[in-house]
Amino acid sequence: MAEESFDLVVIGGGPGGYVAAIRAAQLGLGVACVEKRASLGGTCLNVGCIPSKALLQSSELYAQAGHELGDHGVTVGQVGLDLARMMARKDKVVADLTKGIAALFKKNKVAYIAGTGRIVGKRSVTVRGINGESRMLAAKAIVIATGSEPTPLRDVPIDEERIVSSTGALAFATVPKRLVVIGAGIIGLELGSVWRRLGAQVTVVEFLDRVVPTMDGEVAKELKRVLERQGLAFKLGHKVTGAVAAKKGVTLTAEPAAGGAAATLEADAVLVAIGRRPYTEGLGLDDAGVALDSAGRIMIDDHFRTNVETIHAIGDCVRGPMLAHKAEDEGITVAELIAGKAGHVNYDVIPGVVYTNPEVASIGRGEEELKAAGIAYRAGRFHFMANSRGRTYGQTVGFVKILADAATDRVLGVHLIGPAAGELIAEAAVAMEFGAAAEDIARTCHAHPTFSEALKEAALAVDGRAIHS
Ligand code: FAD
Ligand code: NAI
Repeated sequence: MAEESFDLVVIGGGPGGYVAAIRAAQLGLGVACVEKRASLGGTCLNVGCIPSKALLQSSELYAQAGHELGDHGVTVGQVGLDLARMMARKDKVVADLTKGIAALFKKNKVAYIAGTGRIVGKRSVTVRGINGESRMLAAKAIVIATGSEPTPLRDVPIDEERIVSSTGALAFATVPKRLVVIGAGIIGLELGSVWRRLGAQVTVVEFLDRVVPTMDGEVAKELKRVLERQGLAFKLGHKVTGAVAAKKGVTLTAEPAAGGAAATLEADAVLVAIGRRPYTEGLGLDDAGVALDSAGRIMIDDHFRTNVETIHAIGDCVRGPMLAHKAEDEGITVAELIAGKAGHVNYDVIPGVVYTNPEVASIGRGEEELKAAGIAYRAGRFHFMANSRGRTYGQTVGFVKILADAATDRVLGVHLIGPAAGELIAEAAVAMEFGAAAEDIARTCHAHPTFSEALKEAALAVDGRAIHS
């Protein structure tokens, strides 16, 4: 088999891999990116961030047309749902964006190699193409960016029809009458919201006694309250122990997490959303001698190097939050390090966003974390009820909370629930990257009337001097 030579071979064309490939090519390296899916963009573009946000936007418009426009004096006729069209629009958004990555590869002269990659030596990767043909790639360095897959739940077998992972829940052909969501994490609440808005009765079963466990507790409590008002039902402190799918529906059994009698739940569809796990199947890691940790993640050092010199790993298949922007930043950094430059990811300042309505956004440390670490802090809160833009838009639910070091006033965490939270968190990220104090945000002029004034007011509130509350 003829061998093709590259400076860098990236395995996986998701946000981690494609960004690493483009950055390395910008720095003058000869780069190939191997992707086994039919299109580039990974989980994020194909079955994750992008299709879910497309459906969240479409379903939100449907909900607004049905319930909210009247308040603004806008009357509409009978509001109808054309689910097939909504899905087709989502698919087009995905297709356009994934083709965009292929165009970026062309522009940057990254060789796009369609097929499944396997590491066969510390500088060699074989690729099996979709038609069974094989290629051998030689590389000075290899980056593994193979991402993650849904964590399965024992005795709840996913068939992607009645019992689905997020992938199936992005493509239901009809609105399920009763949808049970297992897991009140980010996927459960985002996709639960989509189907609730489109008319499903949604029950979320969660093992813990709270929702979105990775977010600040006060924000999570408010989110649960708001989602309940939107019609989502929660069964917290319960674990699903089995599911039987029949022609007509699915029968689930759930037990209290603390022990006790099992209850039965009937559903037309079930979404299993209990987390994701690293995906490294068929990569040949055993033969290559690449070490994994007990959670199946590829072990890396601060420079994304595995225990095998020349082999690096980034994104969902390594430690840290499973987020597209974290994978992208690691992609840029690993490329710069391989090219002999400096590179660094600041894991203390990675925003997390839940795209429900209202959105939830979080960065830095939460109150529970600060208390557990014994760090003295001051908290400033400001509610969107008192924000003039919120009033004009009719979006008054939620608040901003800024946590600042009690001694130095340095911002340690910012937590929001409210309109445009996912956009507002960027201001907090910049402030924290520059080591800002709450006072710095408070003294920065914010345009009026904007949602961002709530951030400024929360910063003033850290020192007990908010103007509008
Ligand atoms: P992936 O995107 O998983 O890409 C890995 C790629 O590698 C895949 O395309 C796979 O086919 C390929 N691959 C695997 N093995 C091989 C092999 N041997 N050879 C060739 N190719 C291979 N994150 C956010 O930040 N914001 C969001 O709004 C968001 N929404 C999400 C919604 C859903 C429903 C889901 C499931 C996830 C969401 N995420 C979101 C998470 C986000 O998708 C991931 O964090 C991100 O895609 C990780 O990027 P990655 O490059 O590490 O891996
Ligand atoms: P998650 O980790 O966010 O939430 C899983 C939830 O399931 C947790 O609350 C957990 O306590 C619960 N759980 C676990 N086992 C259970 C059981 N047996 N019964 C009942 N509940 C159980 O995972 P999720 O929602 O599957 O998402 C996976 C990852 O994908 C996220 O953590 C995130 O990294 C990424 N993602 C990011 C998005 C964003 O940034 N907006 C959107 C969607 C996904």
